[in-house]
Amino acid sequence: MIAILDFGSQYNQLIARCVRECRVYCEILPHDIPASRLRTMKPQGIILSGGPASIFDKGVPMSREGIFDLGVPVLGICYGVQLMAHRLGGKVTASLLREYGPAELVLNEAGKASLLFAGLEGRQRIWMSHGDRITKLPKGFRIAAATVNCPVAVMENPSRKLYGVQFHPEVHHTVNGIAIIQNFLFRICGCSPTWTMGSFIEESIRRIREQVGDERVLCALSGGVDSSVLAVLLHKAIGRKLTSIFVDNGLLRENEVEEVVSTFRDQYHLNFRLVRAGERFLKKLAGVADPERKRKIIGREFIAVFDEEARKLGKIKYLAQGTLYPDVIESTSSFGGPSVVIKSHHNVGGLPAKLKMSLVEPLRVLFKDEVRELGRELGLPETLVGRHPFPGPGLAVRILGPITKDKLAVVRKADAIVREEIWKAGLFNHVWQDLAVLLPVRTVGVMGDGRTSENVIAVRAVTSTDGMTADWVRFPHEILERISSRIVNEVKGVNRVVYDISTKPPSTIEWE
Ligand code: XMP
Repeated sequence: MIAILDFGSQYNQLIARCVRECRVYCEILPHDIPASRLRTMKPQGIILSGGPASIFDKGVPMSREGIFDLGVPVLGICYGVQLMAHRLGGKVTASLLREYGPAELVLNEAGKASLLFAGLEGRQRIWMSHGDRITKLPKGFRIAAATVNCPVAVMENPSRKLYGVQFHPEVHHTVNGIAIIQNFLFRICGCSPTWTMGSFIEESIRRIREQVGDERVLCALSGGVDSSVLAVLLHKAIGRKLTSIFVDNGLLRENEVEEVVSTFRDQYHLNFRLVRAGERFLKKLAGVADPERKRKIIGREFIAVFDEEARKLGKIKYLAQGTLYPDVIESTSSFGGPSVVIKSHHNVGGLPAKLKMSLVEPLRVLFKDEVRELGRELGLPETLVGRHPFPGPGLAVRILGPITKDKLAVVRKADAIVREEIWKAGLFNHVWQDLAVLLPVRTVGVMGDGRTSENVIAVRAVTSTDGMTADWVRFPHEILERISSRIVNEVKGVNRVVYDISTKPPSTIEWE
């Protein structure tokens, strides 16, 4: 295990991703974790992350005493190397000149012999980001590389296995970044690349069994990637002791209910309950136009339905939840972020409190793409593992204004056409999310000899990595043409299709 101490860098998750891509397990820990606690975790190496602070600021994040005396190799990155210099008796000098962006790293003789750069050329492109600079090395250290503007770009004390780099190896602009991290992991820390999804499955199954014993576990299955992978993993661990509840809220996509039932009940033989509650949701939503009210109603109703179903099953001690690592990092980060560990997914948010159940969260150490990899390893079909995100409130937020059954039918059909055409064009994996939105306006059209006054569908497709920012997809015109003509021809009540070319920010992905 590699411990990454979090000094607040925006790149922390990237460091963790790089280490895991090297097949080494790592965890991001608070920067002020006591050395004694770290020792009990037995890390094979420690990485001090970068951070926005300047070592001279008041109240800046500091590591605790003793971190450098554990006999464990340490790699300091950016703020991490300055902290290392400062802590070990070197000198860091404030500088008004900040250096951001690409630079050329030149290794000196020590650098060419350094394990950190083993197998790498003497000059390499790196990504710099620093203000302060190290002006005196701590005792026992030597310079291994410099750039034009940074005389101590890399320092090292090989006999204590302490290394520090002023640049960011974790960003892809640093061409040898992964190789440098690999050198640290394999040559300096002596790690082996053994963290695989296969080993993760075995370990999780053991832990799940240990946690729940003979008790039963309840799982809210939504058909999305996280809850599907969660359910199948739990099923593998505890079989029939897991009950999965799937609520059809009437706001799902075309064929979604059938697909979920056939996958989980018929193929995987899960102990599975389908609750058809569409009418209930629609009744509660009748006449509601405000999107936040829609969300609240759907969230509340979901909890009510789930609660009723759960009660029918008798006392169940555990609730499985698909919390992922980014949620955990955000909520435990010492640099802000919400303080409760609850997945933002509206469906499960209020459940544990209401049902007074303990949580089982086997995915909480994984990143999203690792959940997909886990799904594949568990044999889930690509159609499920590669699914685009779909919001908890479903098609309700794809109909601007009040929801009716007729409008649902229109938007559901249009949505299916958009997805089908993107799939047929082979662009499904290039798109992060796609949607069809029914607008609350009617426009004039002409069909045959007569004028029409009918609905407009807005089509949106975006690329993104996490949904926080997004860009619209530049589809070839032929695809837009096929989508448009199929929607106006096949979806009754639509005479116009528009394509959304806004980025997020300032727009959002959804229209409401
Ligand atoms: P926005 O519209 O905020 O969406 O750019 C970002 C991502 O979040 C999804 N989204 C939701 N997911 N409940 C959810 O579970 C919601 O209420 C909700 N609203 C938006 C959206 O589909 C996109 O993936």
